[in-house]
Amino acid sequence: MRSYSLIAPAKINLYLEIIGTRPDGYHELAMILQSIDLSDQIDIHPASTGNIRVYCNHPQVPTDQTNLVYKAAELMAKEFPKAYSNFGGVDITVKKNIPVSAGLAGGSTNAAAVLMGMDLLWDLGLTQLELEELGASLGSDVPFCIAGGTAIATGRGEQLAPLQSLDNLHIVLAKYRSLEVSTPWAYKTYRQQFGINYIQDTEGFAARAKAFHSEEMVKAILNQNTEKIAQELHNDLEKVVLPAYPQVLQLRELFARQTGVLGTMMSGSGPSVFAIIESQAQAEIVKQQIREAIPDQDLELFVTRTIKHGIKIA
Ligand code: C5P
Repeated sequence: MRSYSLIAPAKINLYLEIIGTRPDGYHELAMILQSIDLSDQIDIHPASTGNIRVYCNHPQVPTDQTNLVYKAAELMAKEFPKAYSNFGGVDITVKKNIPVSAGLAGGSTNAAAVLMGMDLLWDLGLTQLELEELGASLGSDVPFCIAGGTAIATGRGEQLAPLQSLDNLHIVLAKYRSLEVSTPWAYKTYRQQFGINYIQDTEGFAARAKAFHSEEMVKAILNQNTEKIAQELHNDLEKVVLPAYPQVLQLRELFARQTGVLGTMMSGSGPSVFAIIESQAQAEIVKQQIREAIPDQDLELFVTRTIKHGIKIA
């Protein structure tokens, strides 16, 4: 039986608006998600033992049953018991490049790659929609990670409407290695502070999601207007994360002062911060200037760009 290597890109949030609390306890969101050229590699090998085993080169990533990669493989085994008994278990190796606990969907994109890889390995012939539905049960960002590119995401984040892809916007990304923000904490704190303004009813959620499709940011993407996209960047979770994490606020302010930065924002629940830069050459300069201003080696910096695809075979 063959083995598969998959490329699993990270995502950034160009837009994240919190609308209300859903009946299932999650938040109703209006987001724009974007794949970037910063990827992990997932290798999937058949294992005759019948076990699921996960290996990873990153010390902060658990390889036990708590890892979303493990859960994705376990879900496939549960959903397709015949294939599991025919083909046996899997050995999955994760080569991490995406910073962990960063708001970049690193875990979700790994899980998305496992679903796609096991579909190929077990010759299941699942459609993208079927894979996305399986992914939604693992995490809100998993369906987007399968599809990739540029998309409006509503509901929990799992309802996707693809947009014209933004290819080649230049990005500088920054993350303190040792800094982690708990996503449940960020949402819970937002609810405590701003829940009073939430839309309360599901009709209201649907109306907001519909209106969002003709918002300025969406128009800017349709027009491929980079400057306008950069001006329209938005993330409600900044309102709780920036005051609680001064290092993230400092990064955000530092980016905003650099020449050539068209816009800057925290991604997801943080603590990664990205900036859209006018050119590749300027992105390299901005990275260098941030490094000079913050020589702390705990700060990881990347020059990257937006891409059109989600999971793909290496
Ligand atoms: O779906 P996922 O497992 O990625 O979500 C992680 C946590 O983020 C959830 O347990 C929840 O606390 C919060 N969340 C939320 N509303 C969403 C997505 C995530 O409250 N739409």
